[in-house]
Amino acid sequence: MTRSTRAAMDGGLRATARRLVTGGRGILAADESVRTMSSRLEDAGVPASAQQRCAYRELLVTAPGLAEGVSGVILCEETLRQHLADGRSFPDGIAGLGMLPGIKVDTGTAPLAGAPGETVTTGLDGLPDRVGEYAALGARFAKWRAVFVVADDLPSPWAIRTGAHALARYAADCQAAGLVPVVEPEVLADGGHPLDRTAAVTARVLAAVATALADAGVDPAGMVLKPNMVTAGAGASVRTPADVARATVEVLRATVPDDLAGVAFLSGGWSSATAAANLAAIRELPAPWPTTFSFGRALVNPALHTWRGDPGAVSAAQEALLVEVRRNTATTRAAA
Ligand code: 13P
Repeated sequence: MTRSTRAAMDGGLRATARRLVTGGRGILAADESVRTMSSRLEDAGVPASAQQRCAYRELLVTAPGLAEGVSGVILCEETLRQHLADGRSFPDGIAGLGMLPGIKVDTGTAPLAGAPGETVTTGLDGLPDRVGEYAALGARFAKWRAVFVVADDLPSPWAIRTGAHALARYAADCQAAGLVPVVEPEVLADGGHPLDRTAAVTARVLAAVATALADAGVDPAGMVLKPNMVTAGAGASVRTPADVARATVEVLRATVPDDLAGVAFLSGGWSSATAAANLAAIRELPAPWPTTFSFGRALVNPALHTWRGDPGAVSAAQEALLVEVRRNTATTRAAA
């Protein structure tokens, strides 16, 4: 690649990354794997099939006016290759509706040898070819999730190193293919640990990820970071949104570069109300990067449970999604 081609590609990546996190909008994560989506459908009383997964994702992305609050939609590979009722592919349809189509490129987690109770995210083999194909199918950005558990002496240094290393390799592969990486290191909220412990673990994880990304030559301005908010464990007493916001911004400021395109938080299994309140408090604090949402469950759960596979409930389900999007978009705008 010539130097000018590289510069043009970097400029395009930076513009796409900025578009994902600015303008008061955030990212809709609708990229559950076939297995996870099937079990969520079944929990909602919907028989799982490729058609039902497609119908549900179509309901989400075609919610009227979704693009007012959503900049991009993360899909799983199955959906990337499916089509809307009007015949357009999902990526074409999403782009036509004014949003950026994205794709989850990791292939899930597997036990990490040498680290009992911990996992490593899989999917690096063949990734350069896959991301090239996803870009050709219309994807503009790509997500990879690394998961870290908090327990007595976990996460281990080895799990942090391997997780950070994989995130950096994936992010470099994405930028080389012209896709914006959405880098997701998630410290799970499972457990009864206090907020200070989440802060210490998140700081160790983010510092390792920042070092690995720099080692791999990843352009911070051409990527989005998708971290957990720094909360107490789900089994501990809840802390106020102001506490969560202060700890979250402090940890991020101490560990990640100022020139990141932006930070888009995951919701981590917290209720829609809790995730929105914490995000609103984060947005009130000064930070060098735009902060917004890249929520899955906190945006889509009410819609799924309103729909339950009933074609007559599509409009009500779409409205349930829009209520959650507006709640988070409004906080983003209010603080912008
Ligand atoms: P949650 O917001 O439900 O945590 O999901 C975000 C996500 O993309 C998980 O990989």
